Amino acid sequence: MAEQQDNLIPIYIMGKQYMVPSTLTIMKAMEWAGYKLIRGVGCRGGFCGACATVYRIMGDPKLYFGLACQTVVQPGMYLAQIPFFPAQRATYDITKLEPTATTLFSIYPEVLRCLGCGACSKACPQEIDVRAYMAAGMRGDIAAVADISFDCIMCGLCASRCPAEEAQYNIAILARRLYGRYLAPRSQHLQERLKEIRAGKFDAELEELKGLSKDELVARYKARDIEPK
Ligand code: SF4
Ligand code: SF4
Ligand code: FES
Repeated sequence: MAEQQDNLIPIYIMGKQYMVPSTLTIMKAMEWAGYKLIRGVGCRGGFCGACATVYRIMGDPKLYFGLACQTVVQPGMYLAQIPFFPAQRATYDITKLEPTATTLFSIYPEVLRCLGCGACSKACPQEIDVRAYMAAGMRGDIAAVADISFDCIMCGLCASRCPAEEAQYNIAILARRLYGRYLAPRSQHLQERLKEIRAGKFDAELEELKGLSKDELVARYKARDIEPK
């Protein structure tokens, strides 16, 4: 206990000071301090984007951005959780769209207002070059927007910093949907396998597997051909 006390550091949650163990993530420190997280938490593994956090360190004027489930606390951290940011989000039916610049500009005309300031890229906890995908969006290059924004987890921090009031991540997910549905090259062998599945080629095998015990399944799994010729 004495050892733990030595490792306690001050952080500020909603302006109130708490002494927390120095090894915890922001999320665990908040829970350690007694907060029960209902919003602003999801996967706890850095994938869902629910735990966006803005913080400053005492005496340092710079703003920092991170995911509460991934960022370890530092002494003098002032925290603000941003579980949701009210960015513009369009409704559309992806099956009725064409993968063109005109589609992008008609659904999100504001894409053309981007100033190229780069505040979004500085805020991104995924280190995505948000400015670059917005520039690609202004050129109507859907494939490039989809590619550059691939690791986006929809946390909203980029939008929170944008002087042009862009909804970068919603623009990017439209581009990724258009790319995935219309532009990505189709895999021939996947199409063939889907045809075989629909034709019932594996039905008997699946039925047999469903009848096996757990031990039989484990034995079968271990004995499988990993790279069948
Ligand atoms: S913060 Fe907004 S205006 Fe600045 S580069 Fe990013 S999207 Fe463009
Ligand atoms: S692009 Fe924006 S929404 Fe996506 S992870 Fe980066 S900051 Fe979050
Ligand atoms: S809780 Fe999902 S990214 Fe942090």
